Amino acid sequence: MKKIISLCLLLFYVSCDDTSTNIDDKEIPISNVSYSQHIQPIFNVKCINCHGVGTTEAGLDLTTWSGTVADPSIVVPNEPDNSRLIWTIEGRPGFPFMPPIGSPYRALTQNQIRGVKTWIAEGALNN
Ligand code: HEC
Repeated sequence: MKKIISLCLLLFYVSCDDTSTNIDDKEIPISNVSYSQHIQPIFNVKCINCHGVGTTEAGLDLTTWSGTVADPSIVVPNEPDNSRLIWTIEGRPGFPFMPPIGSPYRALTQNQIRGVKTWIAEGALNN
């Protein structure tokens, strides 16, 4: 009996410790997307180690809202289909796929891509 309890405790701790999968389980709503609640947490897990922490690839700092919207061709408020950031996470031909294939970071889920597009469509607000 003691063994079974220890095993259950161990499984509980192991499942709690897996913080990397949590971000993909967090559903983003279809409207009223919040930069601080929904978008920045994705960037924190999948982007900022190359864009803002330690190194700032392509001069793009995704650790803050002001860094994210600084280049008007990367995020075009209200126009997700004209925003280079979207082209990279969707894998449009001719643009580097982000996060890069072969890096330790997982691609965005369909829900996350839709969420980032909605955030831009709603004005790319600092909300
Ligand atoms: C492992 C490192 C790494 C990660 C993680 C990463 N990037 Fe990048 N990113 C790069 C590098 C390197 C470049 C420059 C690549 C190039 O121009 O070919 C780049 C360039 C870009 C560009 C500019 C593309 C252009 O057309 O000029 C955007 C936008 C971008 N990244 C967005 C993101 C987003 C959003 C994420 C997270 C979903 C992300 N990146 C995650 C390394 C990374």
